[in-house]
Amino acid sequence: MRSFDLIARPYRTLEYLTLGHTLERTRLYYLPRLLAARNALVLGDGDGRFLSHLLAANATAYATALDISARMLHLLRERCAPYATRLQTYRTDALAFTAPKGTQYDLVVTHFFLDCLPQPEVEELMRQVAPVLAPNAQWVVSDFRIPTGLMRWPAQLLVGGLYLAFRVLTGLRTSRLPDHASALQAAGFHRVEQKLFLAGVLTTELWQRTETT
Ligand SMILES: C[S@@+](CC[C@H](N)C(=O)[O-])C[C@H]1O[C@@H](n2cnc3c(N)ncnc32)[C@H](O)[C@@H]1O
Repeated sequence: MRSFDLIARPYRTLEYLTLGHTLERTRLYYLPRLLAARNALVLGDGDGRFLSHLLAANATAYATALDISARMLHLLRERCAPYATRLQTYRTDALAFTAPKGTQYDLVVTHFFLDCLPQPEVEELMRQVAPVLAPNAQWVVSDFRIPTGLMRWPAQLLVGGLYLAFRVLTGLRTSRLPDHASALQAAGFHRVEQKLFLAGVLTTELWQRTETT
């Protein structure tokens, strides 16, 4: 059973100690582009640092946040308390979530979440989410990546070390970065923009659903 409960409280401090504010900058990079969103589905946001920024910056957005960890969700609700009337939370495996009938999301947020899932689960998740998305929905995704060139080896070392740490601390079973790009393309999205951080070891990307006529 995967659980981030054990590291929920120290998660932010551990992040700042290991990578400083780089992950924060990565998560928030496309925030100004998300201000038209009305109904966001936020998967595995952890302690809610991104979601609190989204709800503060976008005063008319509603959000549904899913997380498998009760403690992460508790921290998220605390951090997002000023916006509680616009927030729904579910403690669930994202793959087991069924949106309430008639719901349509125009934004999906997955910051450092898809890398917790093996490739078949990423693909399955996108197949499940696709039917509840608006025709022009946006998907913002941040993740680690292995760049080509000189940074390849340090990146492999860093990502391998992080997977090992998460395996020990949370029981995470996967140990390879999934290919979220091919899964998003298969789900009908195209990439609008990408910004790399940390010499290409971190990526944040804005994807848009390709409207079919
Ligand atoms: C690596 S943390 C990332 C947290 C945050 N999004 C960030 O940017 O740092 C992964 C989060 O996803 C949650 N999680 C992992 N697997 C999940 C699943 N299958 N369904 C729902 N939440 C999951 C964990 O509990 C944790 O809060």
